[in-house]
Amino acid sequence: MIKQAIIPLAGLGTRMLPLTSVTPKELLPINGKPNLEYILEECLEAGIKQFIFIISKKKQNIKKYFYNDKFYKKIIKKKKDKRIENEYKKIKRYRSMIKFVYQNKPKGTGDAVLKCNKHIKNNFFLMLLPDDLIIKKNCTKEMIKLHQQKKGSVIATKKVPKKTVSRWGILSLKNKKKNYFQITDVVEKPKIKDAKSNYAIIGRYILPKTVLKEIKKLKPGQGREIHITDAIKNLIHKNENFYGSIFKGKYLDCGTLDGYINSSIEISKE
Ligand code: G1P
Repeated sequence: MIKQAIIPLAGLGTRMLPLTSVTPKELLPINGKPNLEYILEECLEAGIKQFIFIISKKKQNIKKYFYNDKFYKKIIKKKKDKRIENEYKKIKRYRSMIKFVYQNKPKGTGDAVLKCNKHIKNNFFLMLLPDDLIIKKNCTKEMIKLHQQKKGSVIATKKVPKKTVSRWGILSLKNKKKNYFQITDVVEKPKIKDAKSNYAIIGRYILPKTVLKEIKKLKPGQGREIHITDAIKNLIHKNENFYGSIFKGKYLDCGTLDGYINSSIEISKE
């Protein structure tokens, strides 16, 4: 079973300035709820029992969000407001499931995963990128089902317009079925002319623990960062099974200002 989810949260959020100069982008509200809570809810519903948050010194506010007891206790004592009490309970429940680790230099998703090294217990774990919200249908649940069926690793994927392939990790594939396919290769942000398909990686991964060993061998890649994509590529070349899960839900990109504004509009329609 997939019990642990790791969530990289150390990015600086520069694409969303000025909103992120004080508030971490993952705490910005989308239709009245922080971005991060959508991710946590998706995981809880899919049976995840522990979260590993990778934060940085600059993103301490994320930890504070879950550890602001003094503040809550004082308000609850004074106001006796049921809604606040329930919110506090919810936050404490999440907190009991979260471990915090630090990545003080934003050196990429691969480097972030490596920081969780000693906490990863099972043979497979989930990783979610909080810039990518998926609504309407639980993507993590679909992926876990495919993982159980195939006993391999799973990456969430969706078709993107050909002209945008250079913004994503792009998959090569074989044996395509209705909702999934086998991944034969992956390239981080290829040039349009080099892209082997227009199936893009969306930020949900079920990865084998062995990926940690692969990451340690990597040299910085695209943008001088250590990419999880490159470690995955090496595992695929060693014949590890990876599947692309063509998820049914609606994908919302919350990592840019325009995307963030659009996500709020889309979610408010639900
Ligand atoms: C990351 C991954 C990329 C993936 C994307 C999905 O890129 O490196 O492979 O397609 O997330 O959102 P980033 O958005 O950090 O540039």
